[in-house]
Order: sequence, then C-alpha cells, then structure tokens
Amino acid sequence: MERETLLALARETALGAYCPYSHFHVGATLVADGQVFVGVNIEISSFGLTLCAERSALSAALTAQARHITQIAIACIDAPADAPDYERMPCGACRQWIADLAPEATVYIDGCERDFQVSDLLPFAFKL
Ligand code: THU
Repeated sequence: MERETLLALARETALGAYCPYSHFHVGATLVADGQVFVGVNIEISSFGLTLCAERSALSAALTAQARHITQIAIACIDAPADAPDYERMPCGACRQWIADLAPEATVYIDGCERDFQVSDLLPFAFKL
C-alpha cells in the first residue's frame, strides 16, 4: 500500500482514540497478509495500563491470524506541526512489540520525513 494512503488512514483512525486523560490521539494502521488493520490508544483510570495505538493495531492483526506484517503507519494527530520527531515516535513497549511481531515491517511516522526499519527503532532487541 502507498505510504501516504496508510498514513492518511492512521490520521483518520486517530480521531477515534479513547484518550480522556491525555487528550493525545494516536492512530496506527498496518498491512498484514495484504489486509489493513487499525488501532487507537485506549486509556483507563490506572494510567500505566494504557494501551498504545500500535499495540492495539498489532492485536487486531494477530487476532485475525494475519501474521506477516509489512507496513505500519503511526499518526499522533495532536502533536503540533513543529513538534520534534520524538513526540511522534513509538514508545519503548511498542518497539518491543513491533520487533517481536512485525520484524520485517517498514514503519512510517506521520510528520517524519524518513521511514524506519525495526533495527532503527530497537537495535539489539531482546528475542527468544
Ligand atoms: N501513545 C501511543 O498510543 N503510542 C505510543 O507509542 C506513545 C504513546 C499514547 C499513550 C497515551 O494514551 C498517549 O499516547 C499519551 O502518552
């Protein structure tokens, strides 16, 4: 799928984020076995148990038994246009999920010019 198409879908998906505490809407879309899956961040009152958009999308794909993930797009639509890249990047937990479940994926970040491979996001990743 085209990079910009997947990123546009991630931005649209982010509108549905459930983030009553941070009000920071994140959407993630991915292509797995040729199908598109989406996820949003879901916050609960115990903040540390929040589910990020990336893990939400990965869960949707794995639940549908779509396993070969080739592209992931992430959009933090509340990051200001001039925000530094690090305000749009996946958190550490999501990087480990991506490394485990989507090791061959190319990752697109909305607002970042370059794309990322898993080895860029999490070098020397833990594996079993
Ligand atoms: N968030 C994500 O959805 N993905 C990330 O990789 C980083 C952070 C969410 C979690 C929380 O709901 C909000 O962004 C602010 O941290």
